[in-house]
Amino acid sequence: MLTRRKVVLQAVACAVALGGLSGAAQAQETVKIGLIVPMTGGQASTGKQIDNAVKLYMQQHGNTVAGKKIEVILKDDAAVPDNTKRLAQELIVNDKVNVIAGFGVTPAAFAAAPLATQGKVVQIVMAAGTSIITERSPYITRTSFTLGQSSVIIGDWAVKNGIKKVATLTSDYAPGHDALKFFKDRFTAGGGTIVEEVKVPLANPDFAPFLQRTKDAKPDAMFVFVPAGQGGNFMKQYTERGLDKSGIRVIGPGDVMDDDLLNNMGDSAIGAVTAHIYSAAHPSQLNKDFVAAYKKAYGTRPGFMAVGGYDGIHLVYEALKKTGGKADGDTLIAAMKGMKWESPRGPISIDPETRDIVQNVYIREVKKVDGELYNVEFETFEAVKDPGKTAK
Ligand code: PHB
Repeated sequence: MLTRRKVVLQAVACAVALGGLSGAAQAQETVKIGLIVPMTGGQASTGKQIDNAVKLYMQQHGNTVAGKKIEVILKDDAAVPDNTKRLAQELIVNDKVNVIAGFGVTPAAFAAAPLATQGKVVQIVMAAGTSIITERSPYITRTSFTLGQSSVIIGDWAVKNGIKKVATLTSDYAPGHDALKFFKDRFTAGGGTIVEEVKVPLANPDFAPFLQRTKDAKPDAMFVFVPAGQGGNFMKQYTERGLDKSGIRVIGPGDVMDDDLLNNMGDSAIGAVTAHIYSAAHPSQLNKDFVAAYKKAYGTRPGFMAVGGYDGIHLVYEALKKTGGKADGDTLIAAMKGMKWESPRGPISIDPETRDIVQNVYIREVKKVDGELYNVEFETFEAVKDPGKTAK
């Protein structure tokens, strides 16, 4: 016989179960992506490019895929890892997102990695470039690049092109350390000499004292890595100190010549040779269409961070098509492994072993084309893997 107390308890249990079910059913209709990027602070240009590109992709492809509505929840972490961690936690626990994405700097990607593992959600790194990031969680994949990919190639290029003495200037945190290591290994193995090695802080760097020393040391070139957003300030100080007239050319990974800023750097940027994964001048039809659509929507040129965002959201769409809309972390990351597609940057894929991006690296020179500054690609290295992983 049922007592009154039992009936009440059963009713409560039933309501809880139903509430739980309807919650789950609702969650299944929508695939949520928590987009954590710096929209303010020194790295804001990265966040803006990624946010713009994700919105553009969704305008072009609609906001439903495999029967699911795609919802992007944008959060500004100002590139401060404590913020990233708190926001990732809130997105996973409260908003029940299926994917976390963005990560404008390496420390932000690191901060979110344990949460992706605990929450079993896919983490798509759209911007940060330190090799080891993808090893921090089995749920991490990347649509940006690694500094190693471009730094080994510019190191070899420098040797082959008669550059013997180089001064280096790198941002003093993980991707800068990777850039320096991979460049230096290749350049010195080929007989080059590093005459000056300077590391500048990530936040508000002052390049001036170093630039004067470099000018006096008279190297053939300076190897520069500063993260996206800082190239304009670097080139301003380079020009003010007269390095453009001293014959010391700028080489490096392409971050310093980000298309987002390049056109405002002035003619002193002309002749800079960098190795990188994207140029707004990449001559494919897909890229021409991408650049035109981005310019039409936002009035500016897309840079490499925009492409990382565009490809990151594409990866979610294509993986969902493959899984028939299943969006749990294990199913989604499995679907992403080995995926291949044509990006505005050229052909790319996700290495099924490492979950890292495999892509072409182009050597480019800044030139004036129709009155505007562009990184004009002149040599292509196909399907480059992250050397930080192949070295192991
Ligand atoms: C990074 O923090 O990993 C990072 C940020 C901006 C870049 C490259 C690397 O341009």
